[in-house]
Amino acid sequence: GTLHVLNGPNLNLLGEREPHIYGADTLGDVEELARRTGSELGFDVECFQSNHEGALVDEIQRIRRTSVGVVINAGAYTHTSVAIRDALANLEAPFVEVHISNVHAREPFRHRSYLSDKAAAVIVGCGVQGYEFAVRRLDALVPGGEI
Ligand code: DQA
Repeated sequence: GTLHVLNGPNLNLLGEREPHIYGADTLGDVEELARRTGSELGFDVECFQSNHEGALVDEIQRIRRTSVGVVINAGAYTHTSVAIRDALANLEAPFVEVHISNVHAREPFRHRSYLSDKAAAVIVGCGVQGYEFAVRRLDALVPGGEI
């Protein structure tokens, strides 16, 4: 089966964006980590990033019946987007919400997520390793070989 890794706004700048918060790894490094972890477990991994809310909604709709599991870091849209929440509610597969930083140790507006109560799991503050953990968690929920 195919896992999908979705990244939202500003995550294309990983590695150069506030490295004291988000670290030195690039989006390419993150996607490579997810692909490597997924293939070790028997999954194909497709990655998508957009700075546009509607483009993320379109992608979630596109994969809603075919994905076996979704890893999503919606960036700032996590804290604002009913539209992304509603799109995720139509996924047949479980999704895991990832945040590189510990959002709970940051500004109060980052403490609320529109996604968390619909997520199979939420991983925050583990750095980019959170994406690997999310892929491994999805493997526990939907074993790679089976679908
Ligand atoms: C983030 C946390 C969000 O609050 C922020 O807007 C991001 C990145 C994280 O991965 O820690 O863009 O999702």
